Amino acid sequence: MKILFLCLGNICRSPLAEGILAHKMIQQGIKGKVDSAGFESYHMGDPPDPRAIGIALQHQIDISAQRVRVFHASDFDTFDRIYVMDESNMSMIRKKTRNQDDLKKVDFVMNLVYPGVNMEVPDPYYGNVELFEEAYRLLDLATDELAKHMKSHTP
Ligand code: 4NP
Repeated sequence: MKILFLCLGNICRSPLAEGILAHKMIQQGIKGKVDSAGFESYHMGDPPDPRAIGIALQHQIDISAQRVRVFHASDFDTFDRIYVMDESNMSMIRKKTRNQDDLKKVDFVMNLVYPGVNMEVPDPYYGNVELFEEAYRLLDLATDELAKHMKSHTP
């Protein structure tokens, strides 16, 4: 399976999600692809926010080599599932869908843990370190479910 995580800036939440899932895929021998992207280009080409790099490193995950990129409609063709962090991301991605097949690929990442609840992973950018810890905790739960799902879809 090919998974894409989306957030606004691609420097905090989606790079964490990508890094955590990539780590679990290696640990558990899961085949597939994981990537992340954002909706705005202010940070284009930059590494993740140092606070996101720091929280990942506390869990022995190095996300420092990731670089910001912006979502493109062709990502709908590349990826099987596209996970957003919050309502704002959801409304932005909905505007970019070209058809029902595109729309079917999109969901809130926390619906992996709490189906249908549409719970958000709060934007930690203007927050303190606790919000980064909270983002990590939530994304760790979601990627556990995703890893299980991907395993059952690995031939
Ligand atoms: P992210 O966080 O969407 O989790 O990467 C943000 C990053 C940058 C900004 C906002 C949120 N920003 O306004 O630049």
